Amino acid sequence: MLSRNGLDYESLVKEDRVHISVYTNPAIFTDEMDKIFHRGWVYVGHRGEIPNPGDFRLKRIGRQPVIMVRDQQGEVHLLLNRCRHRGATVCQREQGNTRSFRCMYHGWTYLLNGDLGGVPSMDGYGEGFKREDLGLVKVPRVGEHRGFIFASLSPAGIALDAHLGRAKEEIDLFAGMSNADEVEVVSGVHKYSYQGNWKLAAENSMDGYHPSIVHASFAQALMDKITHVPTPEQQRVDRNFAAFRGNAKDLGNGHVMLDYRMRIYDPLNGDPAPEVRAVTPEGEARLNNLDRRFGADRAANMLREGGTHTFIFPNLILIGVQMRVLQPLSVDRTEVCLYPTLLKWLAPEVNAIRLRSHEAFFGSASFGGPDDSEIFERVQDGCAVELEPWQLMSRGLHRERHEDGMIVGDLSDETTQRGIWRQWKKIMMQGEVAARSMRKRGAGAVAIKRG
Ligand code: FES
Ligand SMILES: [Fe+2]
Repeated sequence: MLSRNGLDYESLVKEDRVHISVYTNPAIFTDEMDKIFHRGWVYVGHRGEIPNPGDFRLKRIGRQPVIMVRDQQGEVHLLLNRCRHRGATVCQREQGNTRSFRCMYHGWTYLLNGDLGGVPSMDGYGEGFKREDLGLVKVPRVGEHRGFIFASLSPAGIALDAHLGRAKEEIDLFAGMSNADEVEVVSGVHKYSYQGNWKLAAENSMDGYHPSIVHASFAQALMDKITHVPTPEQQRVDRNFAAFRGNAKDLGNGHVMLDYRMRIYDPLNGDPAPEVRAVTPEGEARLNNLDRRFGADRAANMLREGGTHTFIFPNLILIGVQMRVLQPLSVDRTEVCLYPTLLKWLAPEVNAIRLRSHEAFFGSASFGGPDDSEIFERVQDGCAVELEPWQLMSRGLHRERHEDGMIVGDLSDETTQRGIWRQWKKIMMQGEVAARSMRKRGAGAVAIKRG
């Protein structure tokens, strides 16, 4: 069945392959922005990025600029960054602390909750001018889990809880079961962009097939650096990526993960691992709880190196201690932001090793991230070949199994990529009517109270 704009998603995405136009066709990109990024739930940011009243960060939901700000009462608001007068953005700084946002065109000033405060020369407006109707537009739906803030520009649709489903447990593990305000996200941001489609980074982040090839130099450098005597467990699993064992899992709703949590390893920068200890009574309780659930070694590993390896559809990746956010810019350009996290209740030396490990593999000038970006650009370039226009995603299809309501494959299988594409296709085919009505409504939108 053709969609309204003549795109036949049924024939572009097969169970074992996808057509290259899904990475190159600008019309598909526009459609994705509407149906996936504007209508569906997307990850916006974490409470820990704006810990103090007045703190703000600029974000985007799909293509639309948004201010994430904490007001004086501690409430977090998502405000569309567009003056209600003649449309200039009211904030251009990527992050900071402020008492208000002032549009630099004619000086309209907005409070931290988005309300319109001052208007220069108010006498120029008649009686019908209602300041209370002209606040910054609030994002219609905002939801939160452990401080992770998600939003949808559509006033109606699936609840966040239902959308996240099984992925909630992975967010919990990533956060070390911490409360929303115990996750610190103020250690800086690694930001890079590449000349390629956003889905290439989504697929790659959950690809257990490539590390031993793309990241071979990292594995070698790590082995060269490690001079201490390995534990029996470390000897068993080896530091060769090819020796990793685990599962590729489709959690549903496009959320997928590489589950190698049974594996114990050293910090990725090769330094000896510090003993994990808590510095608050609440932290002590969390640590004991994790010890009981997973065993002391795995719990410690989780807190030093991160507890999960999960993609939360469509734009959030939790790997190691980082939250990685995909920001599509155009059909062949993508920005990626990496936010390393600390846990307030962990001892400083443990938080330090979290950061050092993150920098070693994932930072802009690290061993891992740049290698992957190079691959994205090679794939995008390869998409210019149209004589055989398919990308194969069949690895492990014959050996997938169903466990506990999930589809499970071997760590190196393309179960994860297939899970992402299944959801992509479902949304792109089902979203026609809703996306159309939302486009119509868009022009007349006014501030919609957060529900
Ligand atoms: S456009 Fe913002 S005050 Fe005029
Ligand atoms: Fe990689």
